[in-house]
Amino acid sequence: MKFFIDTADFQEIREAHGLGLVDGVTTNPSLCAKVGIKTDQQFEDLIRQICELVQGPVSAEVTATDAAGMLAQGRHLAKIHEHVAVKIPMTPEGLKATRVLAEEGIKVNVTLIFQPVQAMLAAKAGAAFVSPFIGRLDDISQRGMEIVEQTLTIFENYGFDTEIIVASIRNPLHVLEAALAGADIATVPFGVIMQLMKHPLTDAGLKKFLEDWERVRG
Ligand code: E4P
Repeated sequence: MKFFIDTADFQEIREAHGLGLVDGVTTNPSLCAKVGIKTDQQFEDLIRQICELVQGPVSAEVTATDAAGMLAQGRHLAKIHEHVAVKIPMTPEGLKATRVLAEEGIKVNVTLIFQPVQAMLAAKAGAAFVSPFIGRLDDISQRGMEIVEQTLTIFENYGFDTEIIVASIRNPLHVLEAALAGADIATVPFGVIMQLMKHPLTDAGLKKFLEDWERVRG
């Protein structure tokens, strides 16, 4: 399973990259707002900087809501760097824009997917990636991972090569479930990446090893 990091914070990306855990990056307008991106220029500079570091797919989201606007933004974003994947919301207008961008050879990540048929429509439109949001479904008492499992089945049934990015991950269990389901990619917030490495028995075991080592050495 590939690991993407779900953040627009360059320091977090750099740290996770150092751990070898960044095959790609997903950003969205909320994540960009969180790190204080205020202008298009700042956004483009950040995306370029991330692409150069990561050398893998970096999702940059459009903010237009009509197909023509999404196409203009998408083409502009794709020119920033070869690794940009244009992130487009799962709407009728988004689907139209996805089809055209995909035909032009631009990678599209269709986002805000909450049911498997939406993912199938995005794949039919030529999306390179689909992003089912599992945490937001769990938040409303619907098992989010079920849409990942069903989407995997649909893609296998029809031979779609669209990759599934498990998104809206909230905890290490989501990462485990994504891997068990056979998802292509999990996009994981920095805090959860750090949690993945932790276990109290690892810490206790290391402490004991070091204490024993020091004890006999006086
Ligand atoms: C992924 O592409 C999304 O940006 C992200 O995973 C959404 O996560 P949230 O539901 O925690 O905002």
